[in-house]
Amino acid sequence: MLLLPLFLLTFSSRPEPNGAAQILGLFQHPGKSHFDFFRPMFLALAERGHNISMYSYFPLERPVANYTDFVFQGMPLLTDIVDLKNFESEWKPLGLPFKVPTFFMLNDWGLRSCRVALNSPLIAHLLESPVRYDVIILEHFSNDCMAAVAHLLKAPVIALSSCAIMPWHYKRMGSPFINPIMPMNFLPYTDEMSLIDRLNNFFHFHTVNTLYNVITQPATDALISERFGPGLPPINEIVKNTSLMLINQYYALTGPRPYAPNVIELGGLQVGPLKPLPQHLLDLLDRSPNGIIYISWGSMVNTNTLPSAKRNELFQSISQLKEYNFLMRWKGEKSLDNEKPFNLYTFDWLPQRDLLCHTKVKAFITHGGLLGTTEAVHCGVPMLVTPFYGDQFLNSGAIKQRGFGEIVDFSNFDADHITRGLRVILDKKFADNVRRSTEAFRQRPTPHFEDPLTCHMDNILSFPN
Ligand SMILES: *[C@@H]1O[C@H](CO)[C@@H](O)[C@H](O)[C@H]1NC(C)=O
Ligand SMILES: *[C@@H]1O[C@H](CO)[C@@H](O)[C@H](O)[C@H]1NC(C)=O
Ligand SMILES: *[C@@H]1O[C@H](CO)[C@@H](O)[C@H](O)[C@H]1NC(C)=O
Repeated sequence: MLLLPLFLLTFSSRPEPNGAAQILGLFQHPGKSHFDFFRPMFLALAERGHNISMYSYFPLERPVANYTDFVFQGMPLLTDIVDLKNFESEWKPLGLPFKVPTFFMLNDWGLRSCRVALNSPLIAHLLESPVRYDVIILEHFSNDCMAAVAHLLKAPVIALSSCAIMPWHYKRMGSPFINPIMPMNFLPYTDEMSLIDRLNNFFHFHTVNTLYNVITQPATDALISERFGPGLPPINEIVKNTSLMLINQYYALTGPRPYAPNVIELGGLQVGPLKPLPQHLLDLLDRSPNGIIYISWGSMVNTNTLPSAKRNELFQSISQLKEYNFLMRWKGEKSLDNEKPFNLYTFDWLPQRDLLCHTKVKAFITHGGLLGTTEAVHCGVPMLVTPFYGDQFLNSGAIKQRGFGEIVDFSNFDADHITRGLRVILDKKFADNVRRSTEAFRQRPTPHFEDPLTCHMDNILSFPN
């Protein structure tokens, strides 16, 4: 592990005359919500004159100067793909959450996207090209094969994480994992765990870490030597050279954690400046004297797979709360017009960040994904969370513990629980509580927060020669 000062030294001695850096982005994971967290950083860097070469699945919709997209092909994008029927029945040995299978899903995505990216013509061109980069920014998530490409290009590496750091990230960054106070990503725990919770946390952390070491890492090494021949160091040695890790966590949401100084929390970074809402939404908000409740389970969940019994329960709850209008992201194959209650309005897409910050929005029914969660905390909106997979459990635990919302498990997702949960979080006391936390969440070390560029990235890149 190189420490930050050493990294800064390496980086600041670059020979660029105008101080602009050549920045390479390597993002082989096809998850849209991950890239939604990363993109604002790169746009801000381009705006400041740095030259971004971005290898990912997510080209900019409108190209900007100083930012060139190279688009990977060969993996389906992870949008509208999650089938909610998978979460209908949850196996709870001894009544405890058991989330080890999540590892296998991550391992599978990781290896597949790794194979595609490593063998893509884009990476072949990149390695053949004489262009050299001042810094390489990549994602630490379910697989590290892009770190091997970075190793071959011989530039300092900054890692980004769109969620809390994974069990296998602690050691490489030199950060301690302190079991009793640090819940692992897949569990709904907080820094206040019972003895049983701590044991389960211990079991999950070490099981998943061991699986990563005995399954993912050797498989990644095999893919790398298949592509580049033998001779590269093992991938778990290469990743230890990561200079800095910027993560989508913030202590005002998930509590303070003892990271080494090379791991920096930037949670909520993607929350950009407020934009005006489209007129049809403003009209709808005007027609909602008591306010609206916004429902979204993120970009990955396929809303068509919500089992019809649960959908009817949701609709029943919505019709019980007549005084509110409900807005929902629902990308349906068939129209719901005949079934849905009169006060439910569905849209293919909604401008979530701007909607959540509108004063008419009284509550957010969410899956606890980090983008929506941080946007809701930024805007001060109480949440009713139904976590489905991955870090959504961890986020929901934090939301409940900090008084930002209530949890309704998918197994309890019925009109009774939804209506009761909503009545609780719609209480004024509750909104006041969240808004107090909003202030803490918005308080950042520099006034840059409304400008989406991270102060840390800025400091690194403007470090004097
Ligand atoms: C691109 O970078 C140049 C400096 O290299 C800078 O002057 C310019 O403002 C940047 N363009 C945009 C659109 O951000
Ligand atoms: C910026 O990066 C692009 C894509 O890698 C490259 O084609 C271009 O020459 C670079 N521009 C400068 C000024 O370095
Ligand atoms: C890590 O970085 C150091 C310093 O740049 C280099 O000497 C070493 O070979 C690198 N190790 C790996 C495994 O990449």
